[in-house]
Amino acid sequence: MTRDELKKRRIGVLMGGGSAEREISLRTGNAVLVALANAGYNVVGIDANVDLPVQLINEQIEIAFIALHGRGGEDGSVQGLLQVMQIPYSGSGILASALALDKVVTKELLLFHDIPTPKFDLYRHGEDPDEVVRRCQSFPVIVKPAREGSTIGVTIAYDPEKLRKGVQDAIEYDDLILIEEFISGRETTVSVLNGSALPIIEIVPTSGFYDYESKYTAGQTAYLLPADLPPKLYHDMQIMAQKVCTVVGCRGAARVDFMLRGDEMFCLEVNTIPGMTATSLLPKAANAAGIDFTELVQIILEGASLR
Ligand SMILES: Nc1ncnc2c1ncn2[C@@H]1O[C@H](COP(=O)(O)OP(=O)(O)O)[C@@H](O)[C@H]1O
Ligand SMILES: [Mg+2]
Repeated sequence: MTRDELKKRRIGVLMGGGSAEREISLRTGNAVLVALANAGYNVVGIDANVDLPVQLINEQIEIAFIALHGRGGEDGSVQGLLQVMQIPYSGSGILASALALDKVVTKELLLFHDIPTPKFDLYRHGEDPDEVVRRCQSFPVIVKPAREGSTIGVTIAYDPEKLRKGVQDAIEYDDLILIEEFISGRETTVSVLNGSALPIIEIVPTSGFYDYESKYTAGQTAYLLPADLPPKLYHDMQIMAQKVCTVVGCRGAARVDFMLRGDEMFCLEVNTIPGMTATSLLPKAANAAGIDFTELVQIILEGASLR
């Protein structure tokens, strides 16, 4: 749909919802809402709670811009609802969304396609935590819920006791826990817009760990843009990010997170609804490619469709 056609439609920016990343989603959603309103679109913000279908009907929404993060929004469920209601929506479809939100399934798919990702073990709710501690051969490891974001429930464990505690913390968020080899090295993220990689950002958190606070507090993290990597590595990483998006089946905007050990790349995960807050990475990367925030939002909106 062209921008002029889109301006004649009623657009809903779906935000908030009930996930642990609700606050971040509200920030993303409000930034998108303001940008679209200022650009002349007929747009309304919708808090995606249990009454979402009723709100979509009452507000006569014709196109949905999904600004939800985490479960119940980034995971294919809202995409499925919109599909059933025949309301075109931005970003990835049901399968890619569900798949990417699950870090374990993502990693299994990456391995199938020979895309490197850190080695891992799994802990399932109800299992004996001693077993996973016993299996762990070397430290540190990173413990994270399979289906969470914003570094919520993530621990770096340097010893068996910390691992046990990390599993206990993470199980509050999900019943499947990933225990991953810790990659000590540089961290990067590659935004991909409609299949093409944008400039790479290197992330340097002051605290040494890119946790929730480092992600969303201004000044807590340095962002090197473009990342100062050898040209071949830079190019290879962009190609790998595009390949990740292809195999997962992402549409619109996505962001692929990497760790580097020397020049060895490890893909951590893919985000199908990257944050678009003031400190977010996708808008920074787009900006470095000459795409300002309003333009970025419109490019994503133009891709809205039924799958
Ligand atoms: N295997 C790993 N080795 C080193 N650091 C990691 C590893 N996995 C995650 N991290 C760190 O934890 C952060 C969050 O992990 P990530 O897998 O991207 O989950 P999410 O962003 O969904 O919370 C990363 O940005 C990175 O700083
Ligand atoms: Mg991440």
